[in-house]
Amino acid sequence: MAKRLIVQVPDPILSKKCREVESFDQKLWTLLDDMKETLKEAEGAGLAAPQVAVLKRVALVDTEDGFFELINPVIKSMKGEQTGIEGCLSVKGKYGTVTRANEVKVEAQDRYGKKHTYKVSGFSARAFQHEIDHLDGIVYTSKCNDLMEEED
Ligand code: CO
Repeated sequence: MAKRLIVQVPDPILSKKCREVESFDQKLWTLLDDMKETLKEAEGAGLAAPQVAVLKRVALVDTEDGFFELINPVIKSMKGEQTGIEGCLSVKGKYGTVTRANEVKVEAQDRYGKKHTYKVSGFSARAFQHEIDHLDGIVYTSKCNDLMEEED
């Protein structure tokens, strides 16, 4: 495994729509393993492939509900609403308030191409939506109107 560099805004790669994954091969597994190491080191709740400059529909979510490898994830349904604080490893030192669905049902493939359905709520649902947005070139800053500086 190798740690990769996390792309920062306003890099245009973060605004691009990612392509579907078609090959579930060693190249994908290396990307997933590298992303996992990068995410752990950064102590984030999620990381999407475009954040390491790879325009593929691949995302990781790491919350108290588990560690999820999401390949070609699709939100099948949304329920309720939650408003809370969000940050992003590509928007260092800032945070903002974003309103999202409180519960989502997401269909995604695993690293071997097998389909799974995940039903998550609360913070995990927020993380799933944030990471899936990245795959469509959407950074949370476009969804919040109170971007704030982190104090240290
Ligand atoms: Co992010």
